[in-house]
Amino acid sequence: MNYNYKNVKYDQNWYEGETYRFQDQVLNKKNSVSALTERAFNHTSRHGRTDIQPLVFLEGKGPFLVEENESLFLDFGSGIYVTNLGHSHPKVAEAVSIEAKKLMNCHDYITPVKVSYMEKLSEKTDNIFDNIHLYDNGTTGVEIAIKMARAITGKNEIISCFSDHHGKTLGSASLGRLSKFNGSTRMPGYYMVPRPNLYRPIWEDKNGFIDTDKYFDFYDMFIKESTTGDVAAFLVEPIQGWGGGIMPPDDFFPKLQKFCEKRNILLITDEVLTGCGRTGKWMCTEHWNIEPDISILGKGIGNGFPMSAVLTKNKFKDEISKIGPSTTFGGNPMACGAGLATLEVHEENNIEKQSEENGLYLKKCLNELKNKYHFIGDVRGMGSMIALEFVKDKKTKVPFSQVTDIFYDECLKRNLIPGIPVINLIRIAPPLIINKSIIDTAIKIMDEAFYEVKINLEKIV
Ligand SMILES: Cc1ncc(COP(=O)(O)O)c(C=O)c1O
Repeated sequence: MNYNYKNVKYDQNWYEGETYRFQDQVLNKKNSVSALTERAFNHTSRHGRTDIQPLVFLEGKGPFLVEENESLFLDFGSGIYVTNLGHSHPKVAEAVSIEAKKLMNCHDYITPVKVSYMEKLSEKTDNIFDNIHLYDNGTTGVEIAIKMARAITGKNEIISCFSDHHGKTLGSASLGRLSKFNGSTRMPGYYMVPRPNLYRPIWEDKNGFIDTDKYFDFYDMFIKESTTGDVAAFLVEPIQGWGGGIMPPDDFFPKLQKFCEKRNILLITDEVLTGCGRTGKWMCTEHWNIEPDISILGKGIGNGFPMSAVLTKNKFKDEISKIGPSTTFGGNPMACGAGLATLEVHEENNIEKQSEENGLYLKKCLNELKNKYHFIGDVRGMGSMIALEFVKDKKTKVPFSQVTDIFYDECLKRNLIPGIPVINLIRIAPPLIINKSIIDTAIKIMDEAFYEVKINLEKIV
């Protein structure tokens, strides 16, 4: 049985009406704190973006969210890198609904939709990854990938990179930066090394360019001096997300793959954030023609349905069976339906190309803003994954986190969620299906918001 959603038809201009409504909307309006906010915080703690501005959203359509008082917000964070095809994409919603009415869970038994989904997902990677295991969030995918690497290699230790983020459970938190409240103790066998950062390099050659080889010399020294030499895997984000949208030099990943191969270390790429077309290719590592041993997809993989996938190779099949890789919800029919419909929409609309073209245009516009405002130090990224870094001075590059707070607030006042704020950065991640007209509107709002930042800073200084 070849399972698909080819019969599900929908209007290709499904969110066009909202675009006009947003562009016509009276801007510069402060949203009032809702009664629902009060009720919500009676039963949960304040955190994240609700703490910055407790907005209440009722619906989503394409790149827009409908706020409680019916005004539209343009969401340039795609939730959090999740709704790549836009909020509540009709085909994905329909697929979930079809499956929900038929069968919601039969544990890890096989279903037709699961088989077709795994086949299609594997095909999407040119069958580089022909072994697939499905989960319900990115963190679980990361934890399972580590267990797989240990089972495959018979080794134990794991290396990740400074400023990485791979999840919030204790194992995954051990792969990232520790803080007093967030995984304050690293689990044994987890180690971190620096990775090249084009904007803030540690090791440069005599011409001021990043010297990638120096990083690899250091890794060798580090493995010898700090580990027992029993390294199972190097687990790394292709482009760091929470760490600041940090781009690697082009030679880093090809060299890392060779480095790992030579030392019998598995290369695991965490593509929870960079995968699913976000950077202009289905997998970010396609940009460097590398073939990691294990890769993890999450966030955009089900366009909002909670799901993730660990992709690896059939040559490791037997070792993977030993760890019992299934979970309660992983690979349920609704998730497979969401994943399959998402892949179909990617294919039908050449989403990766849209991601690349939108990103190029957005970056060009953001670079114009960079030339206009002294506190925008860097505009970087690939495809529709872009970060703006704010600095006090473009030469000294001293971080300027106040800009983030004022900018984010001014954008929200104008009904734009500009992205995801982190310390002195905004990580811009619009849905991949937007167009130039929407980008122009967002840039106009950002320009106004940056102007307000400038005025505010002049008052402070
Ligand atoms: C690179 C990366 N890996 C893993 C995770 C964890 O994913 P989840 O929140 O779905 O568990 C995140 C979340 O932001 C992430 O950015």
